[in-house]
Amino acid sequence: MCGIVGFTGAQSAAPILLEGLKKLEYRGYDSAGIAVMADRKIAVHKVTGRISNLCEKTGDGSKVPGTTGIGHTRWATHGAPTEENAHPHLSNDGKFAVVHNGIIENYMSLREELIRDGYHFESETDTEVIVHLIEMFYRGDVREALIKTTNRLRGSYALGVICSEEPGKIYAVREASPLILGIGLGENYFASDVTALVNHTRNVIYLEDGEFAELSEDAIRIFDCTGQVISRKATRILWDVQAAEKGGYEHFMLKEIMEQPGAVKATIAPRIKNGAIEFEEMGLSVAEIKNIRNIIITACGSAYYAGCAGKYAIERLSRIPVDVELASELRYSDPLIDEHTLLIVISQSGETADTIAAMKECKDRGAKALAIVNVVGSSVAKLADYTVYTWAGPEIAVATTKGYTTQVTVLYMLAVFLGDKLGLIGNRKTQMIHSLQSLPRQIQQAFDLNSSIPALAKKYHASKSLFFIGRNTDYAVALEGALKMKEISYLHAEAYAAGELKHGTIALIEEHQPVIALCCNPSIMEKTLSNIVEVKSRGAEVLALTFRNNHKILSVADDLLFVPDIDPLFSAVVEIVPLQLLAYYVAKENGCDIDKPKNLAKSVTVE
Ligand code: F6R
Repeated sequence: MCGIVGFTGAQSAAPILLEGLKKLEYRGYDSAGIAVMADRKIAVHKVTGRISNLCEKTGDGSKVPGTTGIGHTRWATHGAPTEENAHPHLSNDGKFAVVHNGIIENYMSLREELIRDGYHFESETDTEVIVHLIEMFYRGDVREALIKTTNRLRGSYALGVICSEEPGKIYAVREASPLILGIGLGENYFASDVTALVNHTRNVIYLEDGEFAELSEDAIRIFDCTGQVISRKATRILWDVQAAEKGGYEHFMLKEIMEQPGAVKATIAPRIKNGAIEFEEMGLSVAEIKNIRNIIITACGSAYYAGCAGKYAIERLSRIPVDVELASELRYSDPLIDEHTLLIVISQSGETADTIAAMKECKDRGAKALAIVNVVGSSVAKLADYTVYTWAGPEIAVATTKGYTTQVTVLYMLAVFLGDKLGLIGNRKTQMIHSLQSLPRQIQQAFDLNSSIPALAKKYHASKSLFFIGRNTDYAVALEGALKMKEISYLHAEAYAAGELKHGTIALIEEHQPVIALCCNPSIMEKTLSNIVEVKSRGAEVLALTFRNNHKILSVADDLLFVPDIDPLFSAVVEIVPLQLLAYYVAKENGCDIDKPKNLAKSVTVE
């Protein structure tokens, strides 16, 4: 996720672009840039790091002449966070500058084609193909060049474009990525988010997918993908700036929970090619896969629990033994590792000190490390032999949500990938890929099925402690569900393997003790059901998480949370969603600081 802005009017553009970018910094903050047009020339200014560096470089914009420009704050996907990869990108003839939010899925083949045609690339980004395509198609009409360019692109994009031959004009293009036009007095704007606009105007127009717009200081014209003019009414924004940053949600955590269908789709979609899973960026060869005798997954906190969920699918599909180890333990455990061990390191931030230390320890002993990481160019990504990015976009809330679900999604895809390369899944592959592609829709269904969660939170928020129980993947999800509850609501919550209760923990069950029972795996449901009956007979109050029509559970549980019909092999990504929401609403009932829980930091860079 990145942020883009555009401005045209009579005022100096750079200070307005910088101010807009600051408001969008929460969408990405590893590098930034602006392109401003003056005297029919485009000047580009870029920096790595935060917008404040760009302000410093440009004297808060005062050193940059011109009244028309575009800007970008980046969250790297393709290519490390460097100045070369920062946007805006310029065409070879210097006539066009482009900023882009989204992912161009077919950029590799376009890049090869453009290089064959003599275009020179300055960056490793997927975006740069766009500006060269525009140059290639330009015959004196920017609109026509944009139509021809977008006909060649596959993926998601919100684009901002300027052309030195059209002073005073900015172009905005939208496909599956948000883009909003702002209507000012003698000036007009676009931005990927209203946050960047509300200080200047509250009258906006939402572009739809497949549309583009031409903005000059006194006019906005909107076109469909064939160039036909469209009329669209303006909308009045009533949010304040803070609410706008959160997309209208009360907290970043809720916003990020709701972003999960899109985040999981961004993780999956570009990696499914010709009916198979391909991790082009990873570079793990079939010979290397055949050399793997065991896998160790290491991580901390939720990322560790993602590993616990992924283990089941990897072992089942690849038949390679998997151990999941806490990084803080692994680093001091004198681990048994050799060159046949594949170490999978999971980290949202890529900067967790224990994770990095465990990774170094295992690499020193000969393991090859595969990183599953969100932040491009982070330490974990740099240290790894192979890297797969989760592409969840920046996560602002301290408690991870979309970070976790995208990590589990990558592990599920890896399980299918390994099984396929080892020739173990045969014609089951098509069904598995279909199940993976269904995950974003099923997360949405999980939202729709659980409108009772705020009311359930009112019932359970004052509990002294909560037990989470489940077996197999249900247990792995219970671990993450309990952590979510602890860290944001401050309730004591513990997860137990349901079959272990009778070996000790059941002594703690007393009248009205809440037990959250996860029963989303039909093959072991009967077993968990008998554990539910055990705790119920000792007075527990049971909130069960299960399938919609699971009548056996419905008849014993006191309250219910639901998942849609999901493939049990890949269930964790959907199953966690009602538990994230439950933790959120319990924390809200308890008046907690949900986005910044006490004693916690987003990135734990100390041991
Ligand atoms: C919990 C949470 C933490 C992180 C852990 C690892 O909601 O966010 O438990 O999962 O600190 O962080 P990363 O993934 O950045 O290595």
